[in-house]
Amino acid sequence: MSLPASTTSKYPSLNKFKDENYVESHDGREIALLKHIYSHPDLNELRGSPSNILRVIDEFAAQQDFLINIGPDKGDKVQKLIEDEKPTVLVELGGYVGYSSILFAEAMRRAHGGTKQDLRFWSLEFDPLMASIAMNFIDLAGLSDIVTVVVGSAADSIKRLHAEKKLTTIDFLFLDHVEDLYIDDLKVCENLSLLRPGSMVVADNVLRPGAPQYREYVRQHIGMESWSVKGLIIPGDYEDELEVSRIK
Ligand SMILES: C[S@@+](CC[C@H](N)C(=O)[O-])C[C@H]1O[C@@H](n2cnc3c(N)ncnc32)[C@H](O)[C@@H]1O
Repeated sequence: MSLPASTTSKYPSLNKFKDENYVESHDGREIALLKHIYSHPDLNELRGSPSNILRVIDEFAAQQDFLINIGPDKGDKVQKLIEDEKPTVLVELGGYVGYSSILFAEAMRRAHGGTKQDLRFWSLEFDPLMASIAMNFIDLAGLSDIVTVVVGSAADSIKRLHAEKKLTTIDFLFLDHVEDLYIDDLKVCENLSLLRPGSMVVADNVLRPGAPQYREYVRQHIGMESWSVKGLIIPGDYEDELEVSRIK
């Protein structure tokens, strides 16, 4: 892929996009990130600091290797929705190495004034290696009391958590795993009556790589009101959109 020099000088990691065999995740870079964090000269300043950990992950993604997390621009937009909505139960489909878990769980805690005890953040991640790295970073950030990472396919995990009565309602659902599964996995939540009037559903990457059928599904849904929020994929500053839906 050819990229403008201004983009690669701002984000040197994107020089690797020029390799025709380039893959963008699950190739060992996540283990390199884990080692990078634990050999960081400011490791002590990362302990218990969600914002410092996220800053180092952003630096790694810009300088060394692109990471498929939500990044600071779209992440900030979802974080503001969480601050407004004040969810008690948040479920994310696709946790990767824990970037969005850390950002959003900290936003939940802040939204409740740092005092509410029963906040629940379920991060559902298919890949056990990514989930293990996420658990490590979430613990380092001091958010293990709120976030539980569950390994497996999102659909299976939702059904199991519901059957075990651990998950009975969802205030805020974040879809960020596989665009082609957004509709099916939203339907799993609908069929189990996990979403209630007022619940919010936010889907990432609706423009890039794209989830046009999902957008059509939620826009035509008589039980939902939906709109898009523009945002940037960083590194790269590529335009993308989040689809935000509220259950009527
Ligand atoms: C785009 S990444 C998630 C990024 C993360 N939400 C963040 O912003 O930090 C997508 C993740 O979904 C996971 N995944 C893929 N299929 C899945 C499934 N069926 N259920 C749960 N997770 C899945 C992948 O392993 C990958 O880690």
